[in-house]
This record gives sequence, structure tokens and C-alpha cells, in this order.
Amino acid sequence: MARALKGLVGLAEPVETDLPLPDYLLEEFHWMPNGYYSHNQAEGYNRGFELSMMGLIQGARDTAAQRLASEGARTALDVGAGTGRQAAALLDAGVDEVWGLEPSPYLLNIAAAEFPRVRFVQGVIEDCELPSGYFDAVAACFLFHELPAEIAEGALSRLHACMSRGALLAITEPGPAQVRTDLVSLALRHGLRGLWFGWLGRFVYEPYLDQWHDTEPAGWLARHGFQLIQDREELPFRTLLARRC
Ligand SMILES: C[S@@+](CC[C@H](N)C(=O)[O-])C[C@H]1O[C@@H](n2cnc3c(N)ncnc32)[C@H](O)[C@@H]1O
Repeated sequence: MARALKGLVGLAEPVETDLPLPDYLLEEFHWMPNGYYSHNQAEGYNRGFELSMMGLIQGARDTAAQRLASEGARTALDVGAGTGRQAAALLDAGVDEVWGLEPSPYLLNIAAAEFPRVRFVQGVIEDCELPSGYFDAVAACFLFHELPAEIAEGALSRLHACMSRGALLAITEPGPAQVRTDLVSLALRHGLRGLWFGWLGRFVYEPYLDQWHDTEPAGWLARHGFQLIQDREELPFRTLLARRC
């Protein structure tokens, strides 16, 4: 279901960043008039995302964090950190040192105020300067379906560079069933939850979602030096776990 791209958003003033923001980041994700780039949208997003996911997204973040921590990770990166909830889950799971990488200064302001123990860094993963071989674990929650395919390739290659050998990567994204199963079947299988997530997936504008669902995870990960060790779909999520070779 390919959708035409909408226009680029205008930045809210003042733009609190010197970081050059690539065009794909300024698209009108989720019908938000300034993407992730205004105070109002950032605050609304911080609350609205949790609600729209019926409270299930925090459980998915916690599960990913606990799995990463279970192998004794001491350093972890939350990539596409948003308002920092995945990073905080990693700390809660027992990881000593957690970094959060996020391009939007508006989201970072909220994250830094709420979770002062996380080391937040502004930047985009495909073009950032993170220490090489440093992280024992990386979590990405709802990042990759928002990246154009070529950016997702660059992102994975940068992640490989900043992770230690044997480190785990946990990716949580929307599952394809949400938009690729018809609404009647979703309702019959999952009741109101199925109807809600089916409607949400069809209504919310996500310019790169189809590209993401077309990605074959094992091959994509292998091309960048990762081995897929788990691929699980449970509405509304698909979770991938991979080991850096
Ligand atoms: C759907 S939000 C998810 C936020 C957060 N992970 C969570 O669990 O709430 C996706 C986030 O990825 C960030 N992002 C988009 N492109 C990125 C990139 N190239 N590198 C790092 N972060 C990016 C966006 O600014 C946004 O905050």
C-alpha cells in the first residue's frame, strides 16, 4: 500500500538545534504538523504515543530491556530515544550506563528532565560519532519503520561499528499484520484490540512503513554483520533480536 509523500514540515520557532536535519526527518509523520520538531508536538507525542498503543508499548520496552540486561550488558544505547522511556527501562533492568541518541531537541528536553541518569546525545544514527565497539547492547523501539530504506542500511552499519562483538540488538516495531490483515479478520482474531490497531495502522501517516514491512530481516541484518536470533510477531508488535558478529 504505497502512499504519496506529504510535504516537508515547517520547523517550529525557535529551532533549538545546530544539527542539520535531513529532509526525511522533517516529514509530516503521524499527521503531526511539525513532525517531532516543536514543543507542543513533543509534549503531545510523549503522552499520546503511550495512549494510542493502549499502554502496551512500555511492556515491550521493558521486555527488550530485560532481555538485553540478562546477558550482563554494562553499556547500552537507546537509538531513536524519543522521550527516553526505552533508555530508562534499560537502567531499571540493571544496565549501568545508558546512552540515548535522538535528533529532536524538543523530545530530548523532555527526556533529559525526566531521566537525568541517561546520557542523551543529539544526532542521527547514520551520521553520528559514537565510540566504536563500545556498547554491549542496543535497543531501538519504533525507529526503523520511520527511516527510508537507504537510511536504515546506514543506521545498521553505524550500530555495528559502535557495538562490541557478541552484543545484542533488540528491535521493536509495528508488526505487518496490523496493516496487512483485513479489519474483519483482525477483529475476529483479536477483538477490539485488533480493530483499534488495524484502524490506527491505516489512519496514521507513516511514509516508510511499507518499505519497512517489505524488509526481510535475516538478510538485512546479515548484510551488516548481525545474526538474527529471534523474530516474533504479536499484535501490534514485531520484535527482532540479533547478535553482532
Ligand atoms: C516513534 S519515535 C519512538 C521514540 C522512542 N524510541 C519510544 O520508545 O518512545 C521514533 C524516534 O526516532 C527518532 N529518529 C528518527 N530518525 C532517526 C535517526 N536517523 N537516528 C536517530 N533517531 C531517529 C525520532 O526523532 C523519534 O523520536
